[in-house]
Amino acid sequence: MTYLDTECLAPLISQESINEKVQEYARIIEREYAGKDLLIVMIMKGAFCFVADLVRELKIPACIDFLTCSSYGMRGTVPGELKVHGIERLDVKGKHVLLIDDIFDTGRTLSEVYSRIKLLEPEAVGSMVLLGRNTEREVVYHPDHVLFQVEEDAFVVGYGLDYKEQYRGLPGICVLHHHE
Ligand code: IMP
Ligand code: MG
Repeated sequence: MTYLDTECLAPLISQESINEKVQEYARIIEREYAGKDLLIVMIMKGAFCFVADLVRELKIPACIDFLTCSSYGMRGTVPGELKVHGIERLDVKGKHVLLIDDIFDTGRTLSEVYSRIKLLEPEAVGSMVLLGRNTEREVVYHPDHVLFQVEEDAFVVGYGLDYKEQYRGLPGICVLHHHE
């Protein structure tokens, strides 16, 4: 038995559907950023699969950098204190920054990163997330592009997203059931 056979995982979004959307949104990025000095900043670790596929679809030049955020860690599905590392290292001045994350949940991560990047005087800051969840939010910031919506009560894993650092390598997105 492999971990793909586990009863806890229910397939939600297939690799094929993700591929189609990634191509569609690559065209959108090309239109939006053609002729601009584009810097893609991926939020690690959750966005690594998404960004790896997206940048290989892009037919315009783009620099790629990353920062690291964590709020769950080994706590699994219970968010803790938000930690952001690596912003001061980024060279964003005068650039068109596109922030990319895996999922927009409470929105704390992206709004925090957005306001910190803004202070570094980029030309513009846009954002794209693979998944969005319609939840009650304290934050007013909203990402510019959301590829898929997921249910409020579904904890999802795969294609970069984890539960206690597991399942990031699944090729599609699955709902994780029966986690504590
Ligand atoms: P936010 O700050 O609440 O928007 O949460 C964003 C981060 O929480 C994401 O980048 C993920 O790392 C994590 N997260 C939120 N929901 C899920 C989920 O369903 N599965 C895995 N990670 C999640
Ligand atoms: Mg994340």
